[in-house]
Amino acid sequence: MSDAKLQRVLSSLTEVYRQLNSLPSSQASYAGYVKLDTNENPFALPKAVMQSAVAALERQYLYPEDDNISLREAAAASYDLSADQVIAGNGSSELLSLIYKAFLGPGDSVAMLSPGFAYNRKLAQLQGARLLEIKWGESSLLPIHELLFGPAKQAKFILLANPNNPTGTFVPIADIESLVALSDQLVVLDEAYVDFAPDSALRLVNRYSNLLLLRTFSKSYAAAGIRVGFGFGHPEVIGRLRNIQNMFNMNVIGHAVGVSILAHRATYNENHRHIRHERERVRGALSRLGFSVTPSHANFLLARVPAGRDGVWWHACLKRKKILVAVLPDEGLEDCIRVSIGTKPQMDAFLAAVEDISGAQTISMMGRIAASGSALLHVGKDSGDRKESDDRKTGLPQR
Ligand SMILES: Cc1ncc(COP(=O)(O)O)c(C=O)c1O
Repeated sequence: MSDAKLQRVLSSLTEVYRQLNSLPSSQASYAGYVKLDTNENPFALPKAVMQSAVAALERQYLYPEDDNISLREAAAASYDLSADQVIAGNGSSELLSLIYKAFLGPGDSVAMLSPGFAYNRKLAQLQGARLLEIKWGESSLLPIHELLFGPAKQAKFILLANPNNPTGTFVPIADIESLVALSDQLVVLDEAYVDFAPDSALRLVNRYSNLLLLRTFSKSYAAAGIRVGFGFGHPEVIGRLRNIQNMFNMNVIGHAVGVSILAHRATYNENHRHIRHERERVRGALSRLGFSVTPSHANFLLARVPAGRDGVWWHACLKRKKILVAVLPDEGLEDCIRVSIGTKPQMDAFLAAVEDISGAQTISMMGRIAASGSALLHVGKDSGDRKESDDRKTGLPQR
């Protein structure tokens, strides 16, 4: 394509899409890394779930079931809802994107508690809409007054994740209920990490028509690569979202795995117990190494790194040791890393790497002090100030 043709093609993009950058042609492969940056659950699927996936492959020549009906019925039965209160998605991110498409046009706004799930920034941008980020920090007290009476009042919907990503903090369901009861806006409550938390807002779905709950099987059910997510809400809202969904949005494996996970949810109890246990073990270990770690109700930890370095520096050092953690784009979290909780060997590898880096950092800091000390020693000698230089000499640790 000549440049002139390319310019013509690009200028035909919609106003909103014209402003987007094109993605680089390739992304790095992370094979061989301990991947703790996107909050997956690194365990195998239960045997019965795996068998259902393999059996589904025998239906590969058929289109998947229309409107995900069996999966929606199975989810409705598991969560005590009716099928018309359930939408099934190719991951919950597909459902998030439908919500943005359905409710936001150019110039509209959506309110999100911040820091929050960064993907929402892109979704708002794709609609030409404004994401109003309501500063929340690492608190678990919902700023209800601000959401009801501040600029968020103009937003087409309010979005919050509970437990929140990237903080892992959890808001009591009574507070969520107050917000939903007092607000006339749609409240989208993203419960991606709820299975690691003490409670859920599921019981509110039948009570409030302005609540839309999102769930995923990517985090607590170890199926991130299969892509299964759900939305639960009022049939009038859910039905409209289903109406704008791509046809055959999920595939036969997603359907089979989703139905089978729903039938075997209890087999995941041990998985969840392990993650909660490892989360607390890693939190303790990081705290002893000088990190300040936010108490978490999810399958990850937000850790403020020891003074003197930032999250990007730790990310780079860990990456050199083949460990991937997340750094956050949010203001105020520059000195943080977010680490997913995986298997015990993965977490041991992460902690060993952190210890190594902390040790090397201490040695290099001592080296710098030593070097500046010996420089002073020379200054002292040159200036004849032997007393001070001798003190520094004896006071300095040896490398
Ligand atoms: C808060 C939150 N919501 C939604 C998602 C997307 O999950 P899914 O894999 O179902 O698209 C994530 C993934 O990291 C998340 O953290």
